[in-house]
Amino acid sequence: MESYRTRRQHLTSKMQSGVAIIPTAPERIRNRDAHYPYRFDSYFYYLTGFREPEAVFVTVAETGQSESKHILFCRDKDETREIWDGFRYGPEVAKETFCFDEAYSISRLDEMIPEILANQPTLYYALGQDAAWDIRVTGWINQVKEAVRKGVSAPAKIYDSCSILDEMRIIKSAEEIDVMKNAAVISTEAHRRAMQLTRPDKHEYEIEAELFCIFRQRGAQAPAYTPIVAGGANACILHYIENNAKLKDGDLLLIDAGCELDGYAADITRTFPVNGKFSPVQKDVYELVLSAQVAAIAAVRPGNTWDDPHQAALKVLVQGLIDFGLCQGSVDAVIESEDYKRFYMHRTGHWLGLDVHDAGDYKLNGSWRLLQPGMTLTVEPGCYIRPSENVPPHFWNIGIRIEDDVAVTETGHDILTITAPKSVAEIEELMQ
Ligand code: GLY
Ligand code: MN
Ligand code: MN
Repeated sequence: MESYRTRRQHLTSKMQSGVAIIPTAPERIRNRDAHYPYRFDSYFYYLTGFREPEAVFVTVAETGQSESKHILFCRDKDETREIWDGFRYGPEVAKETFCFDEAYSISRLDEMIPEILANQPTLYYALGQDAAWDIRVTGWINQVKEAVRKGVSAPAKIYDSCSILDEMRIIKSAEEIDVMKNAAVISTEAHRRAMQLTRPDKHEYEIEAELFCIFRQRGAQAPAYTPIVAGGANACILHYIENNAKLKDGDLLLIDAGCELDGYAADITRTFPVNGKFSPVQKDVYELVLSAQVAAIAAVRPGNTWDDPHQAALKVLVQGLIDFGLCQGSVDAVIESEDYKRFYMHRTGHWLGLDVHDAGDYKLNGSWRLLQPGMTLTVEPGCYIRPSENVPPHFWNIGIRIEDDVAVTETGHDILTITAPKSVAEIEELMQ
């Protein structure tokens, strides 16, 4: 709870005088009476550690940090609702447990927020993320404006709270990296199990089930995103999630799957042969992607830019594509013309954290930002060869991606997903 409180204080110290309003995510209906599994809002959770729906964090920052006030609005205790839906903290217990200065029933929000906003110069709020909240917040501002003849002023400025919070979230604490490492370890175990249980004639969904099995057995709350379990040609569909085809002897299987543990995501891709043995051409392409990935990971260190790992991967991949006869010309020319995008059409990674594509800018003032200790990212080059007239048929339908989760350290990097088998020899041995 101490870390959440420190983050709240950090936020108010970055705010000028004003009020921040940060609601958690709504519950969402899947169909009729069935809801999607609830997932809190990442910004809200980052500042509160509070996982219940129908909650709002409000902070009033006065210039002079000691006067800042941190308030939680949450659901009341309710015996009947708790019989149906489970435990609720209620404002009193939540205030003590989560170290807030004040806590109130969520039912008092409409009455209290206009009072809190009165005479404040600035509202910090993430406009445009949720239409229903935007309407409510606008209503509160208008209510304050209506009181103008009583000498009350409404905030003249609305400032996107995300721009402060994204810069905070982009640097992970040691505690956060520990949770991410645990999420990574559970996810690597799931990938190992998938490799061990994959056989020709099983279905993609049977392997998907094995991933879920490990995630839940090991205490992860959910997959961090819908897994991609893509046999053969399906691996060349970047966001393939149908996961319903039969696995064929001689094909590769690409699995992109990671769990969410206590709010934090792992994001791992491995590609391996359905029958346990790479064919010569599969092995050639696999080893090319692996070399590109190793080169990219080597470029993850403080002082390098966000783009350096991508450029490192690109150089290796493009040289390989030229060697295979799939691209023509020099490495520089192929990179310049972007001809490689026929086979590698995405970038080499993204920030990773509470969100699988985590918060934080990739450029600052128009330049790729520098990597700093505490940043966490994925490194995930790939090569996807669809059938095409100017590609020799033995390459067709090979889709490979290798994705690891990496933390930037003081001296270089730490691969959080190091326990997922990656070399041809490791994979073939595990699959025996
Ligand atoms: N699994 C989503 C991604 O790799 O970006
Ligand atoms: Mn990824
Ligand atoms: Mn992924």
